[in-house]
Amino acid sequence: MSAFDAVDLIIAKRSAEELSTEAIDWLIQNYTSGLVADEQMSAMAMAILLNGMNSREIKDLTMAMIASGERLNFDSLGVATTDKHSTGGVGDKITLPLAPLVAVFGVAVPQLSGRGLGHTGGTLDKLESIPGWRANLSNDEMTKQLQEVGAVICAAGSGLAPADKKLYALRDVTGTVEAIPLIASSIMSKKIAEGTGSLVLDVKVGSGAFMKELSKARELAEVLVQLGKDAGVKTSALLTDMSTPLGLKIGNALEVEESVEVLAGGGPADVIEITVALATEMLRLAGRVDVDVAAALKNGQAMDKWRAMISAQGGDPDAKLPVAKESQTVTAKSDGVITKLDALAVGLASWRLGAGRARKEDPIQFGAGVTLHAQLGDTVKAGDPLCTLYTDEPARFQRASETIENAYSIEAQAVVARKLILDRIGG
Ligand code: URA
Repeated sequence: MSAFDAVDLIIAKRSAEELSTEAIDWLIQNYTSGLVADEQMSAMAMAILLNGMNSREIKDLTMAMIASGERLNFDSLGVATTDKHSTGGVGDKITLPLAPLVAVFGVAVPQLSGRGLGHTGGTLDKLESIPGWRANLSNDEMTKQLQEVGAVICAAGSGLAPADKKLYALRDVTGTVEAIPLIASSIMSKKIAEGTGSLVLDVKVGSGAFMKELSKARELAEVLVQLGKDAGVKTSALLTDMSTPLGLKIGNALEVEESVEVLAGGGPADVIEITVALATEMLRLAGRVDVDVAAALKNGQAMDKWRAMISAQGGDPDAKLPVAKESQTVTAKSDGVITKLDALAVGLASWRLGAGRARKEDPIQFGAGVTLHAQLGDTVKAGDPLCTLYTDEPARFQRASETIENAYSIEAQAVVARKLILDRIGG
């Protein structure tokens, strides 16, 4: 006879009762093995979304999801390890310059990344636009690359937190993504199982992020940081603005292009500011406070690491990136200052142009996306180009340009300067 019954546990959470450690362990183990059915886990996810979990339950859920699979360990490297996780945004290509930049200082970066779903892009999709680059590495290949290069960005193997893989797919189709206990356990189970010694969370706030309000983002960040600390991982979080896109390029190959500009010592100021802030925080947690991070972007050291990192995974850092077959420019309808440039609308437009996928199995267009010719706060004249849309299929322009036109407000008065880093939690 089984110790618990799935229906009893669903009813308990539906009645806003606490679930014991044993009950949570049982649920996750039996969901992973298939004994607890998808429809039962969907009902449980909805009960958790509606009634929440206390911090002990969230910790137990995270630990049970870690225990559903393997746990990596990089102690044999003999150097400190650090990683960053972003809750996702529009134009958020920061992982690309960040991982090689941190590796310049002798701290290893084992970065397991994901693919995009919906309007937010995925790091692996971006890197796969580089001819030859390979996302899937064995654990041995990952360790070897960390020894030889110091940074690796690759896909999480199927053995890592398999309970999360099943549960995340289920949440995606049952309207249960936006629950702090479920988001926090999902992110932290993967990051703790990955074996990093320290972790910086980039919790995005604004229209293009999961968390639209600062108070909710702060609550999520506090839960994430506590889970990391409880598991012995030095963890902190930066709350950063995602009300308008990061940088000027949105879309897979376009974001690689912009990342390379930053690694070459140029690129947009907002991308540089976030990259330097996150690198400084990662290095601080890893015990390196005596470093000039910005200089390593300017003097080519981070670029050298990037080239080594891409080559080690079969990519050609000098290859021409895919370019979309068609483009269309959107112009300003009036004179004034750009007082709104909405991240969500730009992300949706890029997705509609073919840069993202609606279902996991959908193909993506590497060259599709949006380049912005002006950012929030810039002054424009009627007829000036605001942005250019790129796709291989001209039929996609209509819906994308309708979406993008709603992204903008152009008004007579100036806006208050954008604050990129809104707060820091933990560490
Ligand atoms: N990222 C994850 O890995 N899981 C979530 O639930 C949300 C964002």
